[in-house]
Amino acid sequence: MILNGKKGVIFGALDHQSIAWKVAERCVEEGAQIVLTNAPVAMRMGEINALAEKCKAPVIAADATSMEDLEQLFQKSMDHFGGKADFVLHSIGMSVNVRKGKTYTDLNYEWMQKTFDVSAVSFHRVMHTLWKMDAINDWGSIVALSYIAAQRVFPDYSEMAESKALLESFARSFGYHLGTAKHVRVNTISQSPTKTTAGQGVKGFAEFYDYADKMSPLGNAPAEACADYCIAMFSDLTRYVTMQNLFHDGGFSTMGMNPALVQ
Ligand SMILES: NC(=O)c1ccc[n+]([C@@H]2O[C@H](COP(=O)([O-])OP(=O)(O)OC[C@H]3O[C@@H](n4cnc5c(N)ncnc54)[C@H](O)[C@@H]3O)[C@@H](O)[C@H]2O)c1
Repeated sequence: MILNGKKGVIFGALDHQSIAWKVAERCVEEGAQIVLTNAPVAMRMGEINALAEKCKAPVIAADATSMEDLEQLFQKSMDHFGGKADFVLHSIGMSVNVRKGKTYTDLNYEWMQKTFDVSAVSFHRVMHTLWKMDAINDWGSIVALSYIAAQRVFPDYSEMAESKALLESFARSFGYHLGTAKHVRVNTISQSPTKTTAGQGVKGFAEFYDYADKMSPLGNAPAEACADYCIAMFSDLTRYVTMQNLFHDGGFSTMGMNPALVQ
């Protein structure tokens, strides 16, 4: 049990397909105590309560774009744990333009700001709150989930590409401050396409899921394997890994061409 005695806050478990859902289950299997959180609107679907019961975890609502909500979340989490957190998972993404069917060449900029706020600035807000409230232990670990569209072009991923580029940059920049002051490490895990609510919201998802699966020597990494990687990153076995974007993609990011894709 590599997370024995550790305490963590997990953002973003919406339903049983969510990557955060699998991470929550694995954390508890590995001996951690967790707090689950999601946006108030996501809670109304109610599925998270089943996970909470299974994980014996409280659910604390917080909109990750609200500093007030985040402060309350970390205060309540510390009260629950009787101390600070050891790890945090940011597993949040949503594009307003994609959701409303706006193309990349005709973006609505107010919606784009909202997308950046939810999908990337929220990560800075989370770290800012942890910093300000001194709510994370020394040698703690913070992980956010990213996608390779931060580096390469995937046209249908639209403004989420810039969101992920921003998210990865926040991991590096805040990683410096949290590392220097508290030995806390900050990384992003760049995950294969995964069949979840957020994933399947992207136009043409089925095609690029299959393409990535064929291009990757190991095939697409499933959500369960992503959860295993998160566990490793929360454990004491990875204490000197920080400010990295870690590809968890079956080898996709290093491939140029795969004969399996050439007819
Ligand atoms: N599914 C994929 O193909 C894939 C690939 C790489 C990276 N990712 C990333 O993994 C992360 C998790 O996504 P997922 O695929 O598990 O989908 P998901 O839809 O299950 O999770 C997205 C979560 O974001 C939450 N959220 C949205 N707005 C919020 C807000 N204002 N405050 C707090 N929470 C909010 C949703 O309620 C939901 O729980 C995202 O960052 C996503 O971009 C997904």
